[in-house]
Amino acid sequence: ATPPVPPMRITFDARMEPSGPVLTRRMSDLRGLFADTAAWEAALAEDPVVYEVASSPVPEAEGELPQSITTIHPGRVGGEFHMTKGHIHPRPRGEIYLGLSGVGGLLLFDGDKPQWIPMEPGTIGYIPPGWAHRSVNTGDEPYRFLAVYPGDAGHDYDWVLRNGMGYRVLSGADGPLLRPF
Ligand code: 6PG
Ligand code: NI
Repeated sequence: ATPPVPPMRITFDARMEPSGPVLTRRMSDLRGLFADTAAWEAALAEDPVVYEVASSPVPEAEGELPQSITTIHPGRVGGEFHMTKGHIHPRPRGEIYLGLSGVGGLLLFDGDKPQWIPMEPGTIGYIPPGWAHRSVNTGDEPYRFLAVYPGDAGHDYDWVLRNGMGYRVLSGADGPLLRPF
């Protein structure tokens, strides 16, 4: 079992201090997620970093509350905004997001009806147990948010590949456009 960590003070910035693992997701890691496959393939030439996830040293173990800060860099693939892979927590657990900088949204899907929560600095987005979630940068600057979740929640990415997220989030003339999947 993962040993418990002592009480700690974590600095609230892009990288977190003290920091745990930092994950980098490039375009090539997002296979099968964007609708426009040709545009996704063209973007592989440069293979840009789409988002980064910096975690605190709090372990993913029962009873703990690990946190992470995600930064989604601005951009589009065939009109669809840069986004995270998206996942569902296989153990039904809630999760809290707090918008830190930039603008974006939290797309939620329970397999039936999708929900869209616009996010800006100071917005708390609540993800109830049993809802898959994906984050989208709908602006022109990095969109950054804090996530806090129960350490025994787990992460299932295949669920989203199988079921989608209900909506695709495209760049429209008057802001983000939600198109049924
Ligand atoms: C979590 C959070 C969050 C998420 C990142 C990256 O459960 O850990 O929802 O930290 O993992 O924003 O998104 P993906 O995990 O979907 O790539
Ligand atoms: Ni999550």
